Amino acid sequence: MAVTKAVLPVAGLGTRFLPLTKAVPKELLPIVDRPCIEYVVAEAVAAGITDLVFVTARGKGAIEDYFDRSPMLEATLEAAGKGALVAEVRRVAELARVVTVRQDQMRGLGHAVLCAAPAVGNEDFVVILPDDIVDAEVPVVAQLLNVHAARGGAVVSLKNVPRERTNRYGICAGPMLTETLMRIDRMVEKPKPEDAPSTLSIVGRYVLPAAIFAILRETPPGAGGEIQLTDALARLPLAYGHVFSGQHFDTGNPVGLLEAQLHYATRHPEYGAAARALCARFAGS
Ligand code: G1P
Repeated sequence: MAVTKAVLPVAGLGTRFLPLTKAVPKELLPIVDRPCIEYVVAEAVAAGITDLVFVTARGKGAIEDYFDRSPMLEATLEAAGKGALVAEVRRVAELARVVTVRQDQMRGLGHAVLCAAPAVGNEDFVVILPDDIVDAEVPVVAQLLNVHAARGGAVVSLKNVPRERTNRYGICAGPMLTETLMRIDRMVEKPKPEDAPSTLSIVGRYVLPAAIFAILRETPPGAGGEIQLTDALARLPLAYGHVFSGQHFDTGNPVGLLEAQLHYATRHPEYGAAARALCARFAGS
């Protein structure tokens, strides 16, 4: 059965962007002319996802608004003869169907995913962590779904990281079946460099079976005192890791966001030339 649902945990406080995130969800910070989250939603849609489940929290309502129809705005633009803008406003609302569930306590990523259980039901689904943006010829979600279609099981995306950084990620180990495909037999959340079983880290894309929900309900708090998705994944009978191709940006911190902004700005069809000229100007200063 085709995988059509994606869960996007967006309840986080965005502490690395405070005080800005007192008023604006970090997921709506712009990369050129679109909010961060639209890049990952576009990736999901390009991979055949039709339904998004946002796991949200108080103060994050603007995210739903962004992907919703806006009849008054559309009517105002229409009356002013701004048809092109009407189309652009509608385009975003028509990307996918959206359901929102609230995570009422911040108990970790595993808990956030569990909150989506009623909206997902009994089918395989995708999890996307919106901080991780990847520019890839084949969207990473599609790369994972291809592995899933061929092999079944859970699939996570993997990236090699320097050993001194393993304590920031979920780390996977197991035999490599091909140059890019691992049959995972160990998963550890945020291991110290000396304890890490490999340097292949999970980047925020997962294909999961609905069976993960029952496991999450039984998963005790792990690293950082939080209910970890990695710990639940480690208890699934079959999981693969796919070393994805594409350029990855961690937009959860200001420098990573700036890097993504420069990447997309300098390639932008309308603003690219201006962005490259600006980069050249500031490069010497
Ligand atoms: C989460 C996951 C971790 C993964 C990371 C990817 O950690 O728990 O396994 O490697 O996302 O971005 P967080 O960044 O929420 O601490």
